[in-house]
Amino acid sequence: MSSPVVVSPVPVRYRPAQVRALFDKMAETYGWSRWLSGGQLGRWRHQLAHALRQPITGPAHVVDLMAGGADLWPALHHRFGAGLHVTAVDFSAPMLARAAALAAGSQLALYQANALATALPAGQATAVTCAFGLKTLRPAEYPALAAEAARLLRPGGEVALVEFVLPDSGWRRQVMLHYLALLVPCLGWLQPTANVHAELARYASVGPDFSALRQALEQAGFTQVRQRRLWPGYAVLLTAVAKPAN
Ligand SMILES: C[S@@+](CC[C@H](N)C(=O)[O-])C[C@H]1O[C@@H](n2cnc3c(N)ncnc32)[C@H](O)[C@@H]1O
Repeated sequence: MSSPVVVSPVPVRYRPAQVRALFDKMAETYGWSRWLSGGQLGRWRHQLAHALRQPITGPAHVVDLMAGGADLWPALHHRFGAGLHVTAVDFSAPMLARAAALAAGSQLALYQANALATALPAGQATAVTCAFGLKTLRPAEYPALAAEAARLLRPGGEVALVEFVLPDSGWRRQVMLHYLALLVPCLGWLQPTANVHAELARYASVGPDFSALRQALEQAGFTQVRQRRLWPGYAVLLTAVAKPAN
């Protein structure tokens, strides 16, 4: 007799409704992260954008998953220039609403959906990106993310993902832990609704499982899967290329 399959329940904090509620609350103060990181988040976004190639033909069409307030838009615009079109996907309406100031032109479309299963057309994007959205996903969700990225991309298109990481050991880990321990109470003191940033720091302390993510990308058909740590050691950039046309 075969033993029963045990399906472990999804921890409450990784349930989509819980994650969406967290970012709905955080939208008001999410912009603070730019100066709290001393501009470092922006530099990492630029490194992600500049890791992408110019498309061989036609303008770049980027689908930015877990886009928040289209925070990656300035870096993508810097990389690809005027012809760029970005579709910013996020399931939190208040986070997407932060992008309204950027969305003046027709180059940026806002799309409210679960990033793991959008209804966007297949095979249109030259690149699929994700900046700092991995931390609230469970490794069990990586195959869905990789499959959705593969579905959205044109043959030979690229995926690029960047995430904050806490080093496993050493002085960099200690420095960041001390910074976060000081930062979170200060934020709450400045603005009580900013206490939600403490929750984000807890997700970040677990961090993504990059080996599981690389495997999920390979299983979804991606090649040239590359991972590198970004200076000063608190972010990882993962890039991969979708199968070329036959
Ligand atoms: C840490 S913010 C990152 C925002 C932005 N990409 C940046 O560069 O700062 C993570 C975003 O991912 C969104 N998110 C998390 N899981 C999602 C999912 N399954 N589908 C759509 N959006 C999701 C959240 O609503 C939030 O806006």
